Amino acid sequence: MVSSLERTGAQLYERMARVVPGGVNSNVRLEVAQRYFSHGSGPWLWDSEGRDYIDYVLGQGPAFLGHAHPRMLAGVTESIATGMTFAAQTEIELEAAESLVNTLGWAQMVRIGMTSTESVQAAFRLARAATGRRLFLRFRGQYHGWLDNVLVNAQEPWPRVASDGQLASSLDESITIEWNDLEAVREAVAVHPEQIAAIITEPMMLNAGAILPQPGFLEGLREISKEHGIVLIFDETITGFRLGLRGAIGRFGVEPDLAVYGKAVAGGFPASVLAGSTQLMSQFAKGTNHSGTFNASVLSCAAIVHALTIMHTTTIYDDVERTGEQLMASLRGLFAEFNLPLQVRGVPAAFHVAFDTAEPVTSFAELQRADADRYRRLVPHTIEAGVWLTGRGIWYVSGAHDDATNDATLVRMKMALTEFVKHERTE
Ligand SMILES: Cc1ncc(COP(=O)(O)O)c(C=O)c1O
Repeated sequence: MVSSLERTGAQLYERMARVVPGGVNSNVRLEVAQRYFSHGSGPWLWDSEGRDYIDYVLGQGPAFLGHAHPRMLAGVTESIATGMTFAAQTEIELEAAESLVNTLGWAQMVRIGMTSTESVQAAFRLARAATGRRLFLRFRGQYHGWLDNVLVNAQEPWPRVASDGQLASSLDESITIEWNDLEAVREAVAVHPEQIAAIITEPMMLNAGAILPQPGFLEGLREISKEHGIVLIFDETITGFRLGLRGAIGRFGVEPDLAVYGKAVAGGFPASVLAGSTQLMSQFAKGTNHSGTFNASVLSCAAIVHALTIMHTTTIYDDVERTGEQLMASLRGLFAEFNLPLQVRGVPAAFHVAFDTAEPVTSFAELQRADADRYRRLVPHTIEAGVWLTGRGIWYVSGAHDDATNDATLVRMKMALTEFVKHERTE
């Protein structure tokens, strides 16, 4: 029990850090190690000291329906009351799989897992099994999980390992190039003839910036991969079920061979999905292994079923589009009022705010023009004013955000910017 006398983040952190390294269970959270939330509801969060925040982090994406959505809670609670894992199949699992296939439209089969990190590895295994090749091509600044073969430090000189203990040799499995550069893709394919099993990409780059694919880029990837017998994998972990029911595939009109989903797919509950054609996916029923004790648990499957039902039967995508669009426009106006060179780029459901020049940003290299440290210095002021953000610049909008949260956000951001400008002047 945490006593009521020990509720400040700093105090809780002190206890946590004694039993959990760094006081966090995911290294991504080290920058907020002293932050403790007691609960969330819709677009709001409350910290352990009772302060409220409008949440634009949404658990790094999953809470697309808002926190503690009543229909999700009711549906999932009812399902898990019957038990959680049986090491065999359940009807809710069948329902989730059929619902996913029907919703996605482009894929005939799915495998339901726990994390996108795992589902990405399953995709690589399928691609290697199908092609008999070893390498995969990936793009600078994109994230595909924390395991050795995908974790990369993209800062100059790149690519290099991003963690102590990570095998440098595991980066030999991949070729890393800048995104939105088809010439570089063609060159890499030419330099490694018949060696590339897969090309993996976020179809919209959301782990660094919120960078849209240049016209023709995804189509070009499709064409090159088809021509060279390479499996094209879209990592839709962030874009899936956020950019629309059919994710980036629906939005940009290009279909991969395999796609990985996570985050929004289960409305904030833990689940990931690998989707693809019968031809590729049915290898899992033959010699290609994909396993996991918690894969397709009742919890994950019920969450997928209920999240998809909400997404199908409400106006959530129109709502997010409208709210996000208005928020982007109001923020631009506010930044101009303060004479701050902050740019807002992306789509209403996921956009990026950065201190930079107004030129278009199409790659990780171009994103480096932004003054990332200055944005990181702004964030403590937004948090103090009650707008929950991380230092990475990404803002996620949920179906629970609305005109009222937009208005409240503007008032709070005005306070934050006033303090920020004052602070910069006295530095
Ligand atoms: C595009 C992308 N792929 C994969 C992952 C890994 O997902 P997980 O943290 O569920 O393993 C993430 C996580 O942020 C992601 O953004």
